[in-house]
Parts: sequence; C-alpha cells; structure tokens
Amino acid sequence: MSSGTGDHDLTGLKFGAPAAERDIDYGLASYFVESDAYRRVENREKTIVLGNRGTGKSAIFKVLASRERERGSLVLELSPDEYSYEMLSAVLQAEAQGAWVKYSAFASAWKYLIYVLVMKGLTEKSVRGKTAAATRVHNYLRDNHKDQQDNPIETLVSYMKRIEGIKIGQYEASAKVKELSRLYKLEEIEPLLDDLKELCANRKTMVLVDELDKGWDSSEDAKAFVAGLFQACVSINQLSPDLTVYVSLRQELYENIPALYDDAQKYTDITETIRWDEKSLISVVASRIRHTVPSLRQFSDEQCWNAVFAKVLDYRKAKSFNYMVDRTLYRPREIIQLCTECHDLAKSRNSYPIDYGIISQAELTYSESRTKDIAAEYRFQFPGLQRVFEVFRGRPYTLERDDLELICLGITCGEYKLDDSAPWVEDQDPEILIDVLWRVGFLRAYAVGGLKALRRSGSSYVGPHQVSALNLGTIARFQVHQMFRSHLGLKEAKR
Ligand SMILES: Nc1ncnc2c1ncn2[C@@H]1O[C@H](COP(=O)(O)OP(=O)(O)OP(=O)(O)O)[C@@H](O)[C@H]1O
Ligand SMILES: [Mg+2]
Repeated sequence: MSSGTGDHDLTGLKFGAPAAERDIDYGLASYFVESDAYRRVENREKTIVLGNRGTGKSAIFKVLASRERERGSLVLELSPDEYSYEMLSAVLQAEAQGAWVKYSAFASAWKYLIYVLVMKGLTEKSVRGKTAAATRVHNYLRDNHKDQQDNPIETLVSYMKRIEGIKIGQYEASAKVKELSRLYKLEEIEPLLDDLKELCANRKTMVLVDELDKGWDSSEDAKAFVAGLFQACVSINQLSPDLTVYVSLRQELYENIPALYDDAQKYTDITETIRWDEKSLISVVASRIRHTVPSLRQFSDEQCWNAVFAKVLDYRKAKSFNYMVDRTLYRPREIIQLCTECHDLAKSRNSYPIDYGIISQAELTYSESRTKDIAAEYRFQFPGLQRVFEVFRGRPYTLERDDLELICLGITCGEYKLDDSAPWVEDQDPEILIDVLWRVGFLRAYAVGGLKALRRSGSSYVGPHQVSALNLGTIARFQVHQMFRSHLGLKEAKR
C-alpha cells in the first residue's frame, strides 16, 4: 500500500487486538496507557479491579504481570479454562441439601489453593542451598501434594469436598465442629505461613485471577466461588506486603452477587473501578498509531489522530474524534474496534485520511456487533435485551419522556411481542425499564442544570459512562445512544 498522509506512511498502521490477552503480543506493554487506576493497582493500594466488558481489566493484569516478571517476581496467572462453573455444580452438593453456606467454604478452599500454588512456585527451582524455610515448605508439598496434577481447580474442589464431607456427613456434633474449624482455619498450612512470608520476602509474589466471567452460569456455586475468592484475597493480602492477590471482575457480575454487593463497604477501600474519559481514550488510539507509524513518534495525541482521520468530518463539520468517541460507552475495546473497522475499509480503498464516508460505513458493522454484545453482556441480569432494543427500530432517536414511557409501557404490558425472552419486563413499572435502558447505556439523558458541566460542548445528552448516578425521574428528554442508531435504523425526529 502506498498511501501516505502528508509525510506519514501508514502502511504499518495497526490498532492491535481487541482483547488484552492477544493485544499483549502486538505490543500492549509498549503502548499501554498508564492511568491513575493502574498506578493504584501497581502500588497495591487496590487489589480488586472492577469494570465493564472491554474497559481494560485484563490489560492492567497483563502489563502488571509482564513488568513484575521482568523484575524477577513470581507471577501466577489464574484464568478460567481452569475453573468450570458447570463442574462445580456437578460435584458439590447444593447448599439446601447440606445446610451449609458455601461462601466461607470457598473462601477457605481458595486460600488453600493459592497458598499451595505460591509455595510450589517459590520452591520450584534451586534445590541446592535451600533455606530452612524452603526445605520445610518443600517437604510439606512433597508429603501432601506430590501426586496432584497441575490443575488448580482440582486442589480447590478437593478441599471443598473435605469440608462438604464433614458438613453433610454423619458425625457427632462436637467432632464436626472441631474438624470443620480445622479446615476453615487451614490448620494444615498454618504452621508454614511464616516460612512462606520469608520466601516471599526473598522473591516478591503476585497472583492474578482474571476472567471469572467466562462460562459464568449465575449458579449458587458460581456466586459462592467468586465471593469466597474476594474474601480469600483480602485475607491473604494481610499476610505479607510481598505477596499480593489481585482479582478482576465484570461490574455487572459484581452487582449480581449479593454476598459481595450487599457487603460492598467491606471491599470499597480495596476496589478500583475502571473509568475512562475522552482524553485518555484518544491516548489509547494515539499510542497505537505512534507505535506502528514511526514517523509520528514525536507527535501529540491529536496530531496522531489527525494524521489518520480527517480532523473535521465533511458531515456536519463534526470533529472526527468526537464523532467516533460518541459512538462508544467510553471503553477502549470499542474505540479500538471502530478504528480497526475504519482502517480496514480505508486500506482496501486506499483512502486516507479517513473521512465520513468510511466511518459511516464502518459504523454499520460496528453498531450491529455492539448492539448484540451489549445484549449478550447483560444476558443474566436482563435476558432478552436484544428484543427490547428492537422495539425502538426505525423510530426517532430523540424521545420526550412521555413518548419513552409509552413505548416502555407497551413493552411491559406485552403489546410488543418479545417471545418470552425477557420475562423480567412483564408487568414491570415502565420507570424501571427506563432505568435499565439507561444503565446498560442504551439511553442518554438530556443534561440540565449541574449535569451540563459533565457533557462535552456540542452534546446535550449524558450517559452512565459519563455520570455514575443520576435521578432519572427528573429527566424530561432522552436519546438513544449513537452506538445503537445505525443498526436499529433510528432517525432524527421530524420537527
Ligand atoms: N490502559 C490501556 N492502555 C492501552 N490499551 C488498553 C488499556 N486498557 C485496555 N486497553 C485495550 O482495550 C482492549 C480491551 O481491554 P481488555 O481486554 O483488558 O478488557 P477487559 O476489561 O479485560 O474485557 P473483558 O471483560 O471482555 O475481559 C484491549 O485491546 C486492551 O489492550
Ligand atoms: Mg479481560
């Protein structure tokens, strides 16, 4: 491709992969945008990372892991090919059957598993010249975990089974209490904790647990599994400043686990919720441009953007960055996806800088995939959202409150056929439906009064990615978010 914009040859331009697990191979560690959130995690101030899909939870973990490994730390990454929620439900008795609260059992089992993994990791190498602490740990592992394969979930499940066996088994009450407290207190491992501290002091250790949502089935076991992990994380992190367990979780799963959400204040001081704004999002894109177009290396974010995209679109004279970022919920994955779609089209037509013709065409594919992805993202909390979105197809995208309430009433009282796919909307108060549509980003609210300060000049509407709490009852007018418009064929209201 011979295209060049001004002096810049864009032949090598790449926006990377949309998921951090693959993006790390494209160079994420070099074009990573270091936010305050990242620094708080790196400093160990925050150890639980929450965020919506595609906001960069894995990116933080991947970059942290790679930097720590370079420093010689032990880094263990746990992710869910290794945990299967379906399997948990298959092998564990239901809470109702054994009158046992699995949450604390899972917390102990997680602690057990993580301690064992860390001990293994720290004693793997260098047999000669072992310290007394290392020898004791080594001997414990040799005697207790020699035959175990490397599948961590088996270690966790086997510990759960030990607790379950006593909970549900026929034991005399006092024996039961004694055995259980032994297991809950990890008596088997307790004598080794000082040794472990010593080992961690010699080699800093980090355990990263990501992608807990994969295979998520919202079952009792899945929720207890995650809630138990949070508790284990807090408890292990108190042992030593040189051993840190980090956990990431999707925001809406967190809100869906009563054991966590109801106890939210227990975790607020260690929780980092990832949020983005326009300035940091243009950095995400510009850093990728700089990384792959060497001649732009010295240029500012705006200059890099404008070397690839027409600064002002021929459509309504909007700034191209504003136009594109308005089609996101401020998640890096979204802007990367939209840029990639545009770039692919522009490449095939050799048409740079990228202008409205290309962007609007890329938007079709992008809007369709985002509409489906958002519906899929909330499938446990609000199943059938896709059908709800479809009710808005072809309508004007600006909706006065009355119009919106009427549509929502139509949805909740069954006037629009949703094929039983969204049972939660039936007979629901339309206000609740409006609230849900706002929370998932489908609706934006007309900004009045103090809210105005939060919007960018030129846009009168705000979404949940811009303001976290909003009294929707006071909002007189809404708009369907731009991201959904192209796919749903929404039009401007006729005046
Ligand atoms: N701070 C950052 N700097 C540069 N790129 C980032 C940053 N954060 C995220 N990204 C990029 O955004 C995309 C989405 O990030 P990531 O895969 O980490 O999201 P996630 O929150 O883990 O999503 P999911 O819930 O689907 O696992 C990736 O391409 C990632 O590299
Ligand atoms: Mg991820």
